[in-house]
Parts: sequence; structure tokens; C-alpha cells
Amino acid sequence: MTTYRLAFKPSIGLYGQHDPSAVLFEDRTPVFGVEEERYTRTKHATETFPERAIQACLDYRNLELSDLERILLPYDPSLRSELTGHYVTDALRAPGLGRKLSALENTIVSQARARFVPTRQIENRLESIGSPLPPIETISHHRCHAASAFHPSGFDKAVVLTVDAKGEYDSTVVWRGDEDGLTRVHTYEHPNSLGLFFAIVTEYLGYRMFNGEGKVMGLAPYGDDNPAIERALRELIDTGADYDVTELTKRWGTGHGVALLEETFDQPRNETPGEFDQWEKDLAHTAQKLLEETVVDIAESVVEQLGTSNVALAGGVALNCKLNKHVRESPLVEDVFVQPVAHDAGLALGAGWSQQRPAAVDRQTTVYLGPEYETSEIRELLETNKIAYTEPGDLERYVAERIADGQLVGWFQGRMEMGPRALGARSILADPRTAESRDRVNRFVKHREEWRPFAPSMLEDAAADYLIDGAPAPFMIDAYDVDPEQTDDLEAVLHPADDSTRPQTVREDQHPRYHRLISEFADIIGVPVVLNTSFNDHAEPIVRTPTQALKDFYGMGLDVLAIEDVVVEKTES
Ligand SMILES: [Fe+2]
Repeated sequence: MTTYRLAFKPSIGLYGQHDPSAVLFEDRTPVFGVEEERYTRTKHATETFPERAIQACLDYRNLELSDLERILLPYDPSLRSELTGHYVTDALRAPGLGRKLSALENTIVSQARARFVPTRQIENRLESIGSPLPPIETISHHRCHAASAFHPSGFDKAVVLTVDAKGEYDSTVVWRGDEDGLTRVHTYEHPNSLGLFFAIVTEYLGYRMFNGEGKVMGLAPYGDDNPAIERALRELIDTGADYDVTELTKRWGTGHGVALLEETFDQPRNETPGEFDQWEKDLAHTAQKLLEETVVDIAESVVEQLGTSNVALAGGVALNCKLNKHVRESPLVEDVFVQPVAHDAGLALGAGWSQQRPAAVDRQTTVYLGPEYETSEIRELLETNKIAYTEPGDLERYVAERIADGQLVGWFQGRMEMGPRALGARSILADPRTAESRDRVNRFVKHREEWRPFAPSMLEDAAADYLIDGAPAPFMIDAYDVDPEQTDDLEAVLHPADDSTRPQTVREDQHPRYHRLISEFADIIGVPVVLNTSFNDHAEPIVRTPTQALKDFYGMGLDVLAIEDVVVEKTES
């Protein structure tokens, strides 16, 4: 009999405040997964219970909550109470009986709350969806990140690094992954947090924590080595395998750290996010350098210790593709797998996989776990809205010709991606070859700062020709240098400051229609690459439904919308 398990990240109360998601496992394989933000239409869906993501998981197989064998939550209350146990001993050492008793009372209350309240709170929310509830099992935050990195990596054995801001009380955890599963090797406890360190720099540069970190990474190559900044930062923090950033991070949140940076540099935080002077670019460059230096040093020291040269990465910091590039390029590292849903939305995937033997989990090669729509529904929607459409006999060829003509295409095909990157299911596509093409996307697609680079999708077969040490990279989570002889073909999709790129390689079995489109484009212009940016308007999550795609198509300067078998075009005025 088929069994179903539901894993979800609640993002309320003690469960972390951002990126709620849900994943349905059918006989232990994820068959549906989605972030709640795609329903709420607010990026990261902070402080939100993923009710609609849960409902979508259930609807995918027509299930009620009571049909599930169990529910998995990526948070372990007992871990927190073990930590409070430490505080009990600590409290009893404190002088004065009264103080001892009240400290003891507080820890007992907090221990009880940690053990029972979180699950109770979740049960209450679930009961509004359905009852009776199946058993609920809790698994530690970093163990879920670790399973999300190791189990689908295809590695028999690996060093697993989970690096984020905080999960329970952990910030960075080093694991050994082997056929028996995951063993914790070393823990860097909160507040000694690399995620929080980078979040503080992000906030100081004017962006929001858990949102602007990727922009700081993108800004970094515009900066240069700046000895004064580097000296000042190194006085505040220690880098490397014994890193210590607590001077900046010792209070939760970024307020203390930002204030300390303002004092250290005698300069207030940037009030115009998106616009940076050279000094601010140099700061981004230096922060990125210190982060890379630290994580690479951790990886190298453990690779030697554990006798494996495979590294698997997850946690919000692993979304930093330049960092991942440096880990991959270490002479001590043979192979790297980074979980594409590296941030907290991926905890639901890890929670489900953590229950299995790693060898029983298939290697992950796609993230198409979200909803899809039939062409018949789309025709009906267009007819109701009096929108003219065509159905070209060879859709891929037709769209490839439009891209080759310099048009901007909204591409909505198949099941939506889980994770932060659009990978050819909900993408905006353009010609990758020229700076003019890049400028056109910036001018007509309003969702990003102009200095930020765009990324390419390329046929997997072409990766070795274009990328230095090119290999299959299906998730846009790793960066590569580009063969200098090929940069002319890819001007629109290179980082303007360092000519690196963050590719998606595409194989036919991963997305047949996208693969065919890129092949047709190659047939026309000789370059098997398209520019691919996410299909969404400014500060909005990636589109989920055909209606959202249509609204964005008419709300932005796109020329063509290819939505399943149907094409909608704007007429020249
Ligand atoms: Fe996390």
C-alpha cells in the first residue's frame, strides 16, 4: 500500500520566521513541494503558517491529513530542552537560594514549553485543515539541512556542511555522511553564526536580512581589496576553521552588529539600497572574501579529517554560489553537491529524506515539484479574458526565432520550480549574446538592480566548451569562470566585473521542452544558451499560475508569452 508523509516548515513561533514550505512524500519520494510565498505573493512569507502549501500537497493526491502515515517537522524541541538542561546546572551554581529557585523555575517552564508547546501550536493550526491528525515527528533543523544536502547528492560518503543563521541553537554544523546516514562531527553554536555575519553586512549596505545577501554577493566583484576595511573587519572577527564572529553577532538580529559596523567605520548604514559608492563595493568584496576563506577552510580541514573529498552543502549561506565555487575549486575537494533549495524552504525536503537510508534516495537532478496547468485551462482563461492567442505547430522553434529576433519571452512550461531559482518552468528568456540584450532585459523587466548579472541556461553538452572545469550544474547554485574565447557569445549572462557566470545546464530528461527550445535556438544562431531570469515583477515571488503570468506579461515589457502549447503576443503599436 502506498504511504504518504507530509513535511513542512511552519515559520511561526519557534520554527523560524521565514520561507515556509511543504513537501509530500509518496513511498518516501518527494512528489510535490512548494513554498508558501508562491501563494501569499509576499517574498519569503515571513511569520506564516504554510496552510496553502500543505493543502496543495494534500490536493495533489486527493488526501486528507488523516490519510498521512505521519507528519515531519524540521525542529527538535528536545534539543532545546537539552540546552535548557545545561542552564539548570548553571542556575544551581549561581549564588543565593532565591535566585537559584527562580532561575530553576524559569528553566523548567522554558523546558516544558520547548518540549510541548511547539507541537501543540502546530496541531492547533493543522486541526483547522482536518482531523484526526497523524503522528507528528520532529527532526533537528540542521539535520534536515544536512539530509537535504547529502541524501540526494549521489555520494557514498561526504563531508556535509550546513551553514545558516540559526536553527535551534546551531549556526554551522559539520557532519559525516556515509551509508548509515549522518553523524554530527562539529557544531558552531549560535550566536557564532556566519549567516548572521553576512546578514549584518547586508543590512549595513541597506538591504534586508534573509533577502539581500545574494545582492551583496553580486556586488562583491565590483569591489577591490581594501586594506583598511579588511584590517578593521579582521579586528572584529576571526576567520577560518576556528572562526569567531560573536563580537558582531552576539545579540540576535542585526541591530547590534550594524551599530558596531557604523562605529568601526565611522559611517552610517547605506540608506539608498541598490546605489553604492566604491567604499561600499569594497566592503561587500571583503565580507564575501572572509566568508569564502572561512567556509573553504572548514571544508578543507574536515576533508582531511574524515578521509573523503566529497562535500555536500546546505543552509541559507549555501545559496551563495561564489562561495560554492571556491569550495569546489579547493585542491582538496573532488566533488561538490549543493542542495538547490538550500535555504529553510528546503528543510521540508530534508525532513523527509532524513528518515531514509541515503542509498535509497535518488540523486536529485530537478526541482520541478510544484503545480502545473493544462493547455485546455489556459485556452479557457484566455478566451474569458478576450485575449488572442495562437498555437504554433512547432512551439519551441517559433519561440526560439522570437528570442533570436531580440524579443523578450515569458516562458511558463510544466511544473513550477521549488527553490529560489527559475529553471525553465517559470522564466523570462532573452538572447544571451550582447550587452544590448542585457540592457533590454533591464529596461523592460523591472525586477532587479541594473548592475546585477543575469544567468544562462545552456545545453549540458555545451558546458565543457563554455565553462572552465565545466560539469553538469542543473541548479544555478554554483558559479564558473567562462573560457575567455567564448565570452563574446555570452556577454549578457556574464558578471560584468569578473566574467564569471552562474549557469543552469539542461538535459533532455530534466525538461524536454526547455531542452528542445535551447536546441532550436542553437540551430538558428549557433549558441546553445539562453538568458534566463525569473518570471516575476519587482519584489514579487516567481509566478505560480497562468493568471499571474498574464498579469506580469502585460505589466512588464515582454513581447511573447509561451504558456504550455499557447502563445500570446503583443502587437507593435
Ligand atoms: Fe536554516
